[in-house]
Amino acid sequence: MGYRDIYQGWRDDPEGFWLEQARAIDWDVAPTRALNDSRAPFYTWFDDAMGNTCHNAVDRHVAAGRGDQPAIIWDSPMTGSKSTTTFTQLQEQTARLAGALAARGVVKGDRVIIYMPMVPEALVAMLACTRIGAVHSVVFGGFSAHELAKRLDDATPKAVIAGSCGLEPGRVVAYKPLLDGAIAEARHQPEFCVIFQRDQQRADLTEGRDIDWHAFQEGAAPAPCLPVEGSHPAYILYTSGTTGQPKGVVRATAGHMVGLHWTMKNVYNVDPGDVFWAASDVGWVVGHSYICYAPLLAGNTTVVFEGKPVGTPDAGTFWRVISEHNVRSFFTAPTAFRAIKREDPDCRCLEEYDISCLRILYLAGERADPDTVEWAQRHLQIPVIDHWWQTETGYTIVGNPMGIEPLPVKVGSPTVPMPGYDVQILDEAGHPVPPGTLGAIALKLPLPPGTLPTLWQAEDRFRKAYLDHFPGYYETGDAGYVDEDGYVFIMARTDDVINVAGHRLSTGAMEEVLAGHPDVAECAVIGVADPVKGQVPMGLICLSKGVEKPHAEIEAECVARVRERIGPVASFRLCKVVERLPKTRSGKILRATMGKIADGETFKAPATIDDPAILDEIAAALRALDYPAR
Ligand code: COA
Ligand code: AMP
Repeated sequence: MGYRDIYQGWRDDPEGFWLEQARAIDWDVAPTRALNDSRAPFYTWFDDAMGNTCHNAVDRHVAAGRGDQPAIIWDSPMTGSKSTTTFTQLQEQTARLAGALAARGVVKGDRVIIYMPMVPEALVAMLACTRIGAVHSVVFGGFSAHELAKRLDDATPKAVIAGSCGLEPGRVVAYKPLLDGAIAEARHQPEFCVIFQRDQQRADLTEGRDIDWHAFQEGAAPAPCLPVEGSHPAYILYTSGTTGQPKGVVRATAGHMVGLHWTMKNVYNVDPGDVFWAASDVGWVVGHSYICYAPLLAGNTTVVFEGKPVGTPDAGTFWRVISEHNVRSFFTAPTAFRAIKREDPDCRCLEEYDISCLRILYLAGERADPDTVEWAQRHLQIPVIDHWWQTETGYTIVGNPMGIEPLPVKVGSPTVPMPGYDVQILDEAGHPVPPGTLGAIALKLPLPPGTLPTLWQAEDRFRKAYLDHFPGYYETGDAGYVDEDGYVFIMARTDDVINVAGHRLSTGAMEEVLAGHPDVAECAVIGVADPVKGQVPMGLICLSKGVEKPHAEIEAECVARVRERIGPVASFRLCKVVERLPKTRSGKILRATMGKIADGETFKAPATIDDPAILDEIAAALRALDYPAR
């Protein structure tokens, strides 16, 4: 069957389609129904089923005779180390850690925060939690202590599992002081912390609270997999919204397994036993879905890579990892390819490696610009597949179903909606617009299994953020259009989210930090174009009356403040004092117009602008800033 038949098959009988996909999962109690819409617009999936994620990702493969197959290949150019963990070893490791957590009183439903670098133990920790029904929340290592504190207060974990440090080119990032700082700041206190000590920087343990990873597990009885209800949360993953308070995206167990499992063959075209590599970080959704859960659920070998596309040690690292580990399908963000292309424009490093094992390159996380896609196609000589999704959905909304039927690629489009997703382009009033017309991208409810059922302890916010604007739809926050052939084009965000090196960040959160500077009266943060990172944030600040400090000093303090309060991942380096900010007559700051000025694009001042002269002032101020787009 081709894509159109399968998509139509889902439309005609969604219940039958998803129950059929659920047969790929090993259940303790199989689902008798797929969708529960009794609380619409809040939906749940497979909620009469019982099952366990760790069982399906690990134990099941051991039982089926795959115990000696590598489950995880760790490749760390940062430390010069490599290792392989088989499914049997992964089973032993997750069972032991789960047993130790259970012995310390962690029970089903308890939250556990995981703050770890790209080491296999991060996956062991995630799987150990799901093994006993504990709900993990992984926090990305590039966030500050303050961001970690927010997540501690929101998720209220019983325990934290952390690495002693992460490794970035040229520096060791000591995680433990960040964790200590976060715990000191947070209202909620975890009962205990398990610390995975790395040789690059060992951490001092706090007596009575911190326990060494190995000591913690010594003598622990291995824990079996605990069957949980289909709607039981497998994890919470915080993502950026419009404010400084991150949104806790909830992932329900059954739908997560069913949805992800479906993608491994149909989207990524790999079979059990194939090696799959997503070069991302466990702290992001790509890491959750495609470093940890989906490849393991499908019986693939997953690569955990601790390094960067360039500089660890050179622009050939990706090709080395692909050839050395026999990677079949590879997934990364366009920014990684832009970094390689800048460093090695003719892709000379590739000459040293045989990457004929690689069949398809997948890109997501930000808009795949045609230059980057064409460069990758030219040098790799394989299909380069863009696909569009979000933390909230957990897997592809719009993609090219390579395992069903490769559809012709239109560069600039992630291709077509996957079964489960009814993608509509709406005007401001919520009416569908004709093909080729730009509008808000919305998904008709219900969303498919595995997508967020709600936000962690914030059902009201879930409704307001996603459901209220277009009743009957989920609002994606992206704008775009669908062409005559049904291809979807993603053009921009409609909210205050920007995409920096494939990382989703909130300009609203940065504005909150800048506004907290004692000399700042008013501010705006906009995303400006960057040749490698896609976008970087830029802060424009107005000072309070009577401030006499040199502007450069305040600007530097603001830069330091964002790094300290949000983290280095914000890549906040551009900050400029301006006299006034352009606004509409009703007082709304014209961020989009400033963005266009910053990027040197032509723009039209909105008719509602209060004082058009301010735009010239902004343009003059930006001329003084040294950044790529200028
Ligand atoms: N822990 C601590 N700090 C981290 C970190 C982590 N896990 N990840 C990044 N940082 C820090 C970096 O060291 C850097 O700090 P600096 O300001 O002191 O240099 C800062 O955060 C910004 O990091 P990054 O955005 O990674 O920029 P970079 O200049 O180091 O590298 C790229 C640029 C394009 C090579 C890099 O962003 C990349 O590989 N991106 C791949 C995209 C990706 O994985 N996206 C995930 C979604 S698919
Ligand atoms: P995240 O939740 O971090 O995965 O970020 C999701 C957002 O990244 C989306 O809402 C889009 O704005 C953007 N994005 C992800 N994939 C793509 C893509 N293939 N093309 C364009 N934008 C994308």
